[in-house]
Amino acid sequence: MRIIIEKDYQDIGKTANKFMRELLINNPNATLGLATGSSPVGLYKEMIADNKAGITTFKNIKTVNLDEYVGLPEGHDQTYRYFMNDNLFNHIDIDKNNTRVPNGMAENLENACKEYTDYVAKNIPDVQILGIGSNGHIAFNEPGTPFDAHTHIVTLKEGTRQDNARFFSSIDEVPTHAITMGIADIMQAKMIILVANGIGKSKAIYDMAKGPITTDCPASILQSHPNVVVIIDESAGYLLK
Ligand code: F6R
Repeated sequence: MRIIIEKDYQDIGKTANKFMRELLINNPNATLGLATGSSPVGLYKEMIADNKAGITTFKNIKTVNLDEYVGLPEGHDQTYRYFMNDNLFNHIDIDKNNTRVPNGMAENLENACKEYTDYVAKNIPDVQILGIGSNGHIAFNEPGTPFDAHTHIVTLKEGTRQDNARFFSSIDEVPTHAITMGIADIMQAKMIILVANGIGKSKAIYDMAKGPITTDCPASILQSHPNVVVIIDESAGYLLK
């Protein structure tokens, strides 16, 4: 696991984008695994700027997103599909038919999980972008999730709902369930870039990088992946010193 400590959020995005730019230039048919949340937005801004400058193109790029809330209606501004359109896809030359986000409104959620697992296995990301929860979750794999899980439905922990309540008008509106890629799906990616900032992530970052590999900190499994780059600011890296 390679850890890069940057001075601030903007530099995290720029550094993460150096890896992304190289990938997009060398492999214009790549599959990108993408995340939502505040952590990768700086990277997405850099990706948009490169695309607008003609440095990269997404015409033949496919994407697979990590997760989606269950039960939010299509078009709701807190769905992760809306987030991805708004923060990236609407601003680059990608064909949206090539972008996948799990379907949190599927009538048969078990089938939706199986289809997503199969799709990811056939379209293994060349790079997977990750954030990390303050409890060490990756995607919505909360502490205690088995490392061999594939795409599944999760009951969100109260702390995660509270962390995400800032995006809703009240905590009661935060969904209680989500559909998420499992850790076994995520670990297939050829390369993983995890971005995080702020003191609130420092314990999770420490446990991920220096703690035992345990489902108590789902991100700790990344220690066993051969190609992980962690890009954080000094606050998030505070306990590593
Ligand atoms: C988002 C996701 C989550 C977030 C994590 C950090 O698709 O899977 O694991 O990466 O909750 O969220 P932020 O970046 O908002 O702190």
